[in-house]
Amino acid sequence: VPLYEKFALVYDQMGADRHSQKMAGYTLEIMRRFKIRAATGLDLCCGTGSAVARLADHGLEMAGLDQSPHMLAMATRKLKGRSVTLYRKSLPKFRLLDSRDSRRLRRFDLVTCFYDSLNYLKGERALKGAFRSVYEHLNSPGWFVFDMNTPSALKTLWDDSIHADVRDNLAWVWKLDHFPKTRSSACYATFFVKRGRTWERFDEVHYEYGYTNGTIRRLLREVGFEVKGFYDCGTFRKPTSGTSRICAVAKKTDKHGR
Ligand SMILES: C[S@@+](CC[C@H](N)C(=O)[O-])C[C@H]1O[C@@H](n2cnc3c(N)ncnc32)[C@H](O)[C@@H]1O
Repeated sequence: VPLYEKFALVYDQMGADRHSQKMAGYTLEIMRRFKIRAATGLDLCCGTGSAVARLADHGLEMAGLDQSPHMLAMATRKLKGRSVTLYRKSLPKFRLLDSRDSRRLRRFDLVTCFYDSLNYLKGERALKGAFRSVYEHLNSPGWFVFDMNTPSALKTLWDDSIHADVRDNLAWVWKLDHFPKTRSSACYATFFVKRGRTWERFDEVHYEYGYTNGTIRRLLREVGFEVKGFYDCGTFRKPTSGTSRICAVAKKTDKHGR
């Protein structure tokens, strides 16, 4: 079953986009700390576009990328009136071409990716491939800011539990299960949406894969990034063994801008 289809229609109603709104604010704080002067930005796995909107309103010329046409449709609606570009592409490998010279890649000063979207990538090769694609789409200097769930979050928060809530026209039940061998977790999500006088049910299964802080840092370095910040997400403190979400700040300084 494809993901983020009907889920897209209720994503914001569930308040699921609040995280990326917070992350956009946190990213602006990171930009102040590191004196990052970014004019252009790309939000990967942009979903319904809340972070794109926030960063565009701050003055960045923004683009968003996602593989789900349904999420992008919601983003298009939200971003109406703002001049942003949305791309339907999939990680890990993507190529965005420069509209003025189609032999060149479009490059940005800042790339972001929020709400454990990178945890959807299965295996180090895929994660490294995504990091490489980001590197290739950055100017020099260029910055990459993202958050990820830690293996500890998948083991403790994403295991053997149920999350449920209701709205007037919407209810959902999410069951979480952890698979230690693959350091991954599944979220079996069931939704009920009221349509007229009846309720429609739909289901999606989401898998996330855990990567240690050491692995994330090594893969970033292997593709050419310098890791400038690595935090307990939402703070400027180092992660501890109990940290459930990290935020990484990586810089591209390659002079020839490969
Ligand atoms: C948890 S949502 C996060 C959306 C948004 N960043 C936010 O914070 O609200 C994950 C998003 O990643 C997208 N996604 C997942 N895997 C992807 C991939 N391999 N390539 C592109 N987009 C992907 C999904 O379509 C979805 O919109």
